[in-house]
Amino acid sequence: MTQVIIFGSSRSFGNTRKVIDDILGFSGTPLFDLNNFDISPFDYEHRNQNDGFIPLIQELIAYDTWIIATPVYWYNMSTQHKIFFDRFSDLLKIRKDLDRKLRGKKLFVIASFGDSYPKGFEDTFEQICEYLGMEYLGSSFIYSGTKHEEYLEQNKAHTDKAKLKLGIVHK
Ligand SMILES: Cc1cc2nc3c(=O)[nH]c(=O)nc-3n(C[C@H](O)[C@H](O)[C@H](O)COP(=O)(O)O)c2cc1C
Repeated sequence: MTQVIIFGSSRSFGNTRKVIDDILGFSGTPLFDLNNFDISPFDYEHRNQNDGFIPLIQELIAYDTWIIATPVYWYNMSTQHKIFFDRFSDLLKIRKDLDRKLRGKKLFVIASFGDSYPKGFEDTFEQICEYLGMEYLGSSFIYSGTKHEEYLEQNKAHTDKAKLKLGIVHK
């Protein structure tokens, strides 16, 4: 099973990256940082069809499992990821060949949050997977704050869940 991390945060080396390094750092899993790609918001006229989105998808298609790494910003995924997912509408309209290749791929979400456990956060990803014919493997939510001990106590369970689902064995 081949896996890839699709990373999107407003800072490339902040809390979300630390979580990813903790869980997957030793696994050698390739990481694509959306900050390094020129991907503009969805355009109904597809005037941006030659930006970095399609080449990125063509690279990602090679992997069976996509690991979405995102901070929770305003109860939702990062803007980088929202723009990335909005652009899937391009595939449905002008690159059906690539859209078809998404079917059967697996998706797992690792989210870093700093305040409150994000209710309903998973629903979006579950529905995206259902729509695209991908298999939703679940989400792990890792608390980056210090105030809420109950969330800190859950971190190990969420980390273990991610490792189990992704088959990560640390030496
Ligand atoms: C714009 C913004 C919005 C945020 N919204 C939330 C939120 O809705 N819920 C929450 O628990 N934490 C929220 N946080 C805290 C981040 O989720 C948390 O600090 C996370 O670990 C940041 O990861 P990063 O360093 O990769 O950006 C927000 C932070 C920012 C900057």
